[in-house]
Amino acid sequence: MENAIRFYQAGGPDVMHWEEVQVGEPGPGEALVRHVAVGLNFADTYFRTGLYPAALPNGLGVEGAGIVEAVGPGVANVAVGDRVAYTGSPLGAYSTARVMPAAPLLRVPEGIELDTAAAMIMRGMTTAYLLRRIYPALKAGDTVLLHAAAGGVGLIFLQWAKLLGVKVIGTVSNEAKAEIARAHGCDHIVYYGREDVAKRVREITGGEGVPVVYDSVGKDTFAGSLDSLKRRGLLVCFGTSSGPIPPIDAMQLAIKGSLFVTRPALADYMADPTERAELAGELFGHVAAGRIKIEVNQRYALKDAVQAHKDLEGRKTTGSSIFVV
Ligand SMILES: NC(=O)c1ccc[n+]([C@@H]2O[C@H](COP(=O)([O-])OP(=O)(O)OC[C@H]3O[C@@H](n4cnc5c(N)ncnc54)[C@H](OP(=O)(O)O)[C@@H]3O)[C@@H](O)[C@H]2O)c1
Repeated sequence: MENAIRFYQAGGPDVMHWEEVQVGEPGPGEALVRHVAVGLNFADTYFRTGLYPAALPNGLGVEGAGIVEAVGPGVANVAVGDRVAYTGSPLGAYSTARVMPAAPLLRVPEGIELDTAAAMIMRGMTTAYLLRRIYPALKAGDTVLLHAAAGGVGLIFLQWAKLLGVKVIGTVSNEAKAEIARAHGCDHIVYYGREDVAKRVREITGGEGVPVVYDSVGKDTFAGSLDSLKRRGLLVCFGTSSGPIPPIDAMQLAIKGSLFVTRPALADYMADPTERAELAGELFGHVAAGRIKIEVNQRYALKDAVQAHKDLEGRKTTGSSIFVV
């Protein structure tokens, strides 16, 4: 018998239950993965609350790392005994072991521990497409604005931006997080709870504004993000940690300087297997070589998922969080 977190209705952290579950044999195209570590992501809270739709009852979790214990017919990308990691649907990573589609499984290179892998696929692949795909004109010397700079995506983004020569204005909620962001390469700190973000961005950029804002906070930062952009700049709304963004008024985009807005999802930047392999290769390469350090700053047991979600939503975490299985 295996164990998993299941939820039967959308709601607060207490809807999650630690239960015994049956894990069957893998069918065609499937693999049985025994988890070593599982990623805790903000997206998990969106599924739990119902912001992202999920059929109920269901498992939770979209990221894990472990060992392949069995494969079904037709599986060629992984074999029994492989060290693998993945991110994406279907839900169910919060489990000791699971049967899942084999296609999303990535082999983890030697030199990268599986707990590190569980902390970096979702956040690292997201950073990869944010910095390498979504605004191809980004170049060394540019200055961008990144919200929640001390978070899981934030610390990976800061290090990767430094490798590209891109300067980052990072927002954080307190001094301790500012210290962590600075230590990972953040060039300018803005305290978004008590400073006018757009005003500070204009001061730092000599009045011009930034070409791109990477905004995972959503409701609380949306207006300031738009006002921080230079003419024809791009607002990347890639998360809603503070709540969903308001409806977009297209005329405001014209008035504020012919701005662009996108609301991307990682799945659309991983759908093409070649692109997925390219982005994963870059990410694994940086981590294996020590150019990007994955900071696993919180570790939980899976049965403590309720506390883990409370900490993440309560802004108590920095860097990446995982469940150790
Ligand atoms: N679209 C995609 O493809 C994609 C993929 C992966 C992740 N994401 C998004 O990227 C973001 C970062 O994910 P993560 O797992 O690395 O989380 P995280 O950044 O480690 O945690 C969220 C952070 O957001 C900040 N925040 C600001 N207002 C908040 C509020 N009202 N409630 C909670 N947090 C608030 C907090 O930092 P401060 O205390 O410094 O404010 C908090 O630590 C999430 O929004 C996630 O949904 C998007």
